Amino acid sequence: MTDQLILGQTLRFSADPFEGDVEAAAHVSARGGVLVRDGRIAAIGEADDLRRENPQAAVTDHGDHLITAGFVDAHMHYPQTAMIASWGKRLIDWLNTYTFPEEMRFDDRAYADDIAGRTLDLALANGTTTLTSFCTIHPQSVEAFFEAANARSMAVIGGKTCMDRNAPDGLRDDAKTAYDDSKSLLEKWHGRNRISYAITPRFSPTSTPEQLDALGALWAQHPDVLMQTHLSEQLDEIEWVRGLFPDARDYLDTYEKFGLLGERGLYGHAIHLEPREIDRLTEVNAAVVHCPTSNTFIGSGLFDMAGLKARGIRTGLATDTGGGSSFSMLRTMAAAYEISQLRGTALHPAQLMWLATEGSASALHMTGEIGSLNVGAMADLAVLDLASTPAIAQRANRANTLWEALFPTIMMGDDRAISKTYISGRPV
Ligand code: GUN
Ligand code: ZN
Repeated sequence: MTDQLILGQTLRFSADPFEGDVEAAAHVSARGGVLVRDGRIAAIGEADDLRRENPQAAVTDHGDHLITAGFVDAHMHYPQTAMIASWGKRLIDWLNTYTFPEEMRFDDRAYADDIAGRTLDLALANGTTTLTSFCTIHPQSVEAFFEAANARSMAVIGGKTCMDRNAPDGLRDDAKTAYDDSKSLLEKWHGRNRISYAITPRFSPTSTPEQLDALGALWAQHPDVLMQTHLSEQLDEIEWVRGLFPDARDYLDTYEKFGLLGERGLYGHAIHLEPREIDRLTEVNAAVVHCPTSNTFIGSGLFDMAGLKARGIRTGLATDTGGGSSFSMLRTMAAAYEISQLRGTALHPAQLMWLATEGSASALHMTGEIGSLNVGAMADLAVLDLASTPAIAQRANRANTLWEALFPTIMMGDDRAISKTYISGRPV
């Protein structure tokens, strides 16, 4: 394939902007470019230099639009796409009223195919190039998601959502089928093209100890895969967990007891954590995933970004659709900013962009492969128009730095700000 030169403003990171000098971690070029060879980033630099050094390359010039790594959504539920923005409930009622009836429909493979394709197309329109999704109890919901991702050459992570109690008829498996289905899906799909499998107990209230134990055993047999679940999202959920697992020290312990705490564990929400839980997450180098639009939409609470990052906990950013209220990682960054403000910290735009790209990639153990504009990474890119609406344009017009120009798009932007998305260097 011919080399491609994609030109515009560029933003890349050489370090975590939560550690040390924020702006030193970020590298901005007002007239930069990315050289793509065989789907990967082969060089990044100044546009003029890249043009001179690569006269053979096909050039696409995005002018003053901003080229960034594509966004990485580290926790979402593709089966909830069609019921996003369902009114008036908190977590447990919201699951019972809206979520479980919708997830029941994924028994139908054609419906699963439709929603999987719709979700991935919405993601791409929003500049999101990797999704980490819960599927449903139905193995065909996982097949649908992975086939839709393959058709788009996208890197995705997903798994069969396991539940064997506190869920309606038709939406429960048992310890053995959860193990068997997860194992055969994992063996079929993990590592195929750009697909990764994640063992997926929904959360401890919907799994018996036997099911958690079976999934812990599966993880021990396949330590290279991720394990995703939910942790400490709402206070009445935590009370419920206490009643269901009277011997557990805390919510995290309901996973830890069954071999479901580890470095490749992804714990969604993680809002109301006890000191012991924070210590254990730190000690095992597990990752937490911040889902800010969901946390405000379902009324869950204020995630402690500054506190958890200060402990060195790997943290990803996610939409959590359909508990989250947007498919846009821009809107998600805005909500993360607002929640941090309510806790007394103003996140820098560089920190927000890092969370939505490198931070999520790090949570997924995919650093250097996705979420990065550094040499060697896959050329999954988003190109942002920093003047996508009149309101944003008039504010960006006054900016003196890239950060001032970018922040209005983070706070007020949506899919109109995404002028192009690339997967492996190919525009979609
Ligand atoms: N906890 C268990 N299941 C879910 C879910 O589908 N969405 C959210 N936000 N929290 C959960
Ligand atoms: Zn979730």
